[in-house]
Amino acid sequence: MTDDVSIWQAAAEPTAVRSGPREVQSRVPKVPTETVFTIEDLSFFYGDHKAISDVSMTIGHHEVTAFIGPSGCGKTTFLRCLNRLNDLIPNTRTEGQIDFLGHSIFGADVKPIELRRRIGMVFQRPNPFPTSIYENVALAPRLHGMKKGLDDIVEESLRKAALWDEVKLKLKASAFGLSGGQQQRLCIARAIAMKPEVVLMDEPCAALDPIATLRIEELMVQLKSDYAILVVTHNMQQASRVSDRTAFFSVAVDEKGTRTGHMIEMGPTDIMFTTPTDKRTEDYITGRFG
Ligand SMILES: Nc1ncnc2c1ncn2[C@@H]1O[C@H](COP(=O)(O)OP(=O)(O)O)[C@@H](O)[C@H]1O
Ligand SMILES: [Mg+2]
Repeated sequence: MTDDVSIWQAAAEPTAVRSGPREVQSRVPKVPTETVFTIEDLSFFYGDHKAISDVSMTIGHHEVTAFIGPSGCGKTTFLRCLNRLNDLIPNTRTEGQIDFLGHSIFGADVKPIELRRRIGMVFQRPNPFPTSIYENVALAPRLHGMKKGLDDIVEESLRKAALWDEVKLKLKASAFGLSGGQQQRLCIARAIAMKPEVVLMDEPCAALDPIATLRIEELMVQLKSDYAILVVTHNMQQASRVSDRTAFFSVAVDEKGTRTGHMIEMGPTDIMFTTPTDKRTEDYITGRFG
């Protein structure tokens, strides 16, 4: 384990959800929630291309937050800012501030690898390692120095990912023998095994059939009791079924044809899907655009 864990453990003072100018006014009573991320004026550049501009929001713990918007509006880029995964892409730059549990993720004391342990990620296509089901879950904890109790970590992670009963008799079998939906739940178990606080999911059901999709949706709702779940989805029904709050991103095109993503509004999902404040959100969710 790394030395900087202690600074992160300060963490977790409950704070009220901030209501910024872009926040839809809630017409339901607000339940106080702990804030995992406070994001202020976040912009991200690939070379000279500003892919997202001036995003500000707060993200609550123990909630599912959905991110919707047309292709290219920067949803994936935004998620990857949160655990500094974009650092791995050369010639990129971030402006603005991201606080995770009250600490800047850009602080000199922050180790990106430790940050990514605490903020796990699941991708569009299930991407299990070419090894056994057991090893897929055990590998990262072992690399982080955990030697004892690996069997328990594997079982607990697979149980939380609602996969244990389906695989408990074939833990040594190849992960590639699982169905797509099972592989995606295995990838969720792999993220959970690192004992994260947050799980980022980038269109986790994009490659799955409707039944496998429903399993993952049920799982997201269960997982929020332990984690903050941030999910990008193109599926409006999915956003409305699983999420507590929804952020809508859109893309502006300037006179040179450069496309830059912005957040248009964010609020409680039921309000965003019934009475959004911005016409662009309404057009998108009713299928008139995007
Ligand atoms: N690795 C990259 N290098 C350069 N540009 C990128 C890269 N990834 C994404 N982009 C650009 O950033 C913008 C936002 O992309 P992305 O975050 O993938 O949007 P979304 O997930 O909403 O479809 C797009 O214009 C895309 O072309
Ligand atoms: Mg994307």
